[in-house]
Amino acid sequence: MVLLGFLPTSRDATWMLDGLVLGTVGLLALLTWSLYVVRYKCGYARHRTMQLRLAASFVVVLGMLELNLVLDTSWWDRALQSPFHQRGLLTPVLTIHRVAAIACCLLWIWTIVYALQNFAAPPTPGTYSRHHVRLARVAARSLYATGLTGWLFYWMAFVAS
Ligand code: HEM
Repeated sequence: MVLLGFLPTSRDATWMLDGLVLGTVGLLALLTWSLYVVRYKCGYARHRTMQLRLAASFVVVLGMLELNLVLDTSWWDRALQSPFHQRGLLTPVLTIHRVAAIACCLLWIWTIVYALQNFAAPPTPGTYSRHHVRLARVAARSLYATGLTGWLFYWMAFVAS
């Protein structure tokens, strides 16, 4: 038994998918804030805490998605009713989203593990900074890409009619 979505715009989504869409808004807003804090306010310790909490929230969001896939076995059949399926766009967008999400997980694990190993506690700029900034910018962009492609797929599959 699957609870129907609560967003008025969703056509065939579930409560959990709508929650995921809103959760992603929160994740991307927090990420933007954390990057602002480290870049313009030199809030290194706050940036560290926020990034670790973001990673934990990311795991919760992923768990919700997995749970939704287990409980709601007909989501793909409903998504196929989308006008974008006939145009052959639905599956490619989902594939791009999945690739972005997998890359994002790997990049975030890599970025966090290396940052924790190489920055002091509390963290301050140092010899590892250049490497971290380069890797972390790619990791940050991969989360934006995952969120944006996720919203696009959600809109195509469960909103557009
Ligand atoms: C996936 C997790 C993380 C992401 C995406 C991330 C992202 C970033 C980005 C994009 C910058 C550069 C900001 C700019 O000037 O444009 C940065 C700077 C920094 N981050 Fe992270 N970060 C992450 C985790 C961490 C962690 C866990 C720590 C501490 C252990 C940390 C410590 C720092 C420090 C100290 C700087 C300043 C480097 C400097 O300007 O010299 N970061 N981070």
